[in-house]
Amino acid sequence: MRTQVGIVGAGPAGLLLSHLLHLRGIDSVVLEAHSRDYVQKRVRAGVLEQGTVDTLVATGLGDRLLREGLVHHGIELRFGGQSHRIAFEKLVPGRAITVYGQQEVVKDLIAARIAAGGRILFEVSGVAPTGFDTAHPSIGFTHAGLRQTLECDFIAGCDGFHGVCRPAIPDGVLTCYDREYPFAWLGVLAEVPPSSEELIYAHNDRGFALHSMRSPEVSRFYLQVAPDEDVASWPDERYWAELRARLETVPGWHLRTGPVLEKVVAPMRSFVAEPMRYGRMYLAGDAAHIVPPTGAKGLNLAAFDVGVLAQALAAWYADGSTGLLDAYSGTCLRRVWRVQHFSWWMTTLLHAFDGYDGYDRRLQRSHLDYVCGSAAASASLAENYVGLAHV
Ligand code: FAD
Ligand code: DHB
Repeated sequence: MRTQVGIVGAGPAGLLLSHLLHLRGIDSVVLEAHSRDYVQKRVRAGVLEQGTVDTLVATGLGDRLLREGLVHHGIELRFGGQSHRIAFEKLVPGRAITVYGQQEVVKDLIAARIAAGGRILFEVSGVAPTGFDTAHPSIGFTHAGLRQTLECDFIAGCDGFHGVCRPAIPDGVLTCYDREYPFAWLGVLAEVPPSSEELIYAHNDRGFALHSMRSPEVSRFYLQVAPDEDVASWPDERYWAELRARLETVPGWHLRTGPVLEKVVAPMRSFVAEPMRYGRMYLAGDAAHIVPPTGAKGLNLAAFDVGVLAQALAAWYADGSTGLLDAYSGTCLRRVWRVQHFSWWMTTLLHAFDGYDGYDRRLQRSHLDYVCGSAAASASLAENYVGLAHV
């Protein structure tokens, strides 16, 4: 089997890359370990930056997104018994976020690729990228019981944090930076109308809580829990009670509850591998970097990476120029590190830390007061949250 760009992983990064390359007349094959049904049902991120929405709309993927996506012009920070609104319309005029589930983006991308005759092979195993330090890379894999080789000009490692592409790069090439956090998020998807029009990020001595949503009928919640938390120790009644305790802290606000559709623990980690390239292997999205979800950035960063990569590959196919390909890692890492800082900062600002003494807690509270009370500090949060245009 032969293609121009061999892509490992049918998450947002791999699928969007395949779509962007197709629009530039470049052929690709996507190899995915799981089934189509599995990747379309995997509940993850929900907040799209303005730039991500613009990319999806400009490349013909805006139909359902513009119809069903919920455009939000602000978020709420809730602490100390009060609500504080970060008003995007005032702080970053013309920019907003759109709440649209990652699995909806994935569904739209898969449908677009298949309609255009794109090749996505689901349920492949034994994926083995080789030869990417030469001009003739290839990817070995098994599909429907048959061992095959995909020959290509480039390999895009879009296979997430636990994929095979990053580990296939020889030892000593990459420098990895990471942070583990002393907590995880317990996420719940529930069939209940949102209790608030906008997202609520709640700081509480009991721990952080987030109220988000997917549609006028479905809400999404997260609770800060221990890093090794067992979902089984959180029956629905305990989950709702804890969510109430952390969110019902302002007068007159009540949490609506309903049937739980899904409950899952997500670990919190920061990670960056540098550079994001070795020879003809390019890493994109979670394969190269992870952020804690507090800033809602993982999916957006993946989309940014593949936008840069698609443009660089298009330049190479147009006239053999390597300038943009050589700049790929540096261009992405500038944004990656800005987002690393923002995500770490939001996480530190909003979570409860076990080891904190009275001094640490007062510093944290002062920081929260400053972020909400100062127009400059609010604008800084807002411009990072909706997505910086210039990095
Ligand atoms: P992925 O979505 O991980 O896609 C990688 C794909 O590669 C997967 O389909 C995988 O099956 C496939 N793959 C892996 N290994 C192989 C292999 N060997 N062979 C073939 N295919 C392979 N971000 C937020 O902003 N907010 C959130 O609330 C949030 N929640 C999250 C919850 C969880 C449990 C996780 C894991 C992530 C969450 N994220 C969140 C992060 C966000 O979802 C990711 O940043 C985003 O999915 C990155 O897209 P990606 O395409 O790079 O990687
Ligand atoms: C969602 C996830 C996030 O990590 C976040 O910061 C905001 C919203 C969500 O899944 O809706």
